[in-house]
Amino acid sequence: MSDRKRKLVVFSGAGMSAESGISTFRDSGGLWEKHSIEEVATPQAFGQNPKKVLDFYNQRRRQLYEVEPNEAHYKIAELDEMFDTTVITQNVDNLHERAGSERVLHLHGELDKGRSSVDETVIVDLKGKDINLGDKAPDGSQLRPHVVWFGEAVPAMSEAMEEVQKADLMIVVGTSLQVYPAAGLVDVCNPDCEIYYIDPQGEPWPNPNLTVIKEKASIGMNELIKKIS
Ligand code: OAD
Repeated sequence: MSDRKRKLVVFSGAGMSAESGISTFRDSGGLWEKHSIEEVATPQAFGQNPKKVLDFYNQRRRQLYEVEPNEAHYKIAELDEMFDTTVITQNVDNLHERAGSERVLHLHGELDKGRSSVDETVIVDLKGKDINLGDKAPDGSQLRPHVVWFGEAVPAMSEAMEEVQKADLMIVVGTSLQVYPAAGLVDVCNPDCEIYYIDPQGEPWPNPNLTVIKEKASIGMNELIKKIS
């Protein structure tokens, strides 16, 4: 037996943070039922009504300071001990990091960061502060949220694909797998990779190595840990 730790990729979505009190997007009562994507989550929306877009993300950022990681975030962080783990999250919250996960790749950006509106590589920490119209990035442009909007490229995608291709084990948790390119990650794992999909509404997709655990993240992670440890 080699001493090499097995490579684990956890791929999470909004359902991961639901038990912390953060709304998902597409469940009944979810964020996209209350807000229109076209009005708050596209570059065009920011061009037309930047205040509305900034207010939407300012609200989300304030909420981040009122919530805590849940049991499933902590269980995932504990897996760093047993596996060579990378968490790839579609979530813009920082709950994986706050639970102690060491390697976290944010596909859709991070709420508590802002960036230049002309150069996506100029990024600043917000530390909970709102972004207001007139706030400037270090390059002098209007500061905007460091989130990937619909219609924008996903810069972390190629790194995420490389991680998934190396995985011996993949845990997909709390995502409807409806948003591409992120959802395509489940199709690039190697043919021997064991995949577990934890989601109360999880449906199987054709892959002989896939096990669906139709549970909330906390219950599903407890079940799964018994299987894999
Ligand atoms: P969705 O809102 O599309 O899906 C949330 C999933 O979480 C659903 O499949 C639910 O069944 C599941 N769920 C709900 N409660 C859960 C719980 N307690 N435990 C586990 N699962 C639960 O969210 P995402 O798939 O993350 O992008 O959406 C992907 C992207 O669409 C987001 O990153 C965001 C959004 O528009 C951007 O804003 C760019």
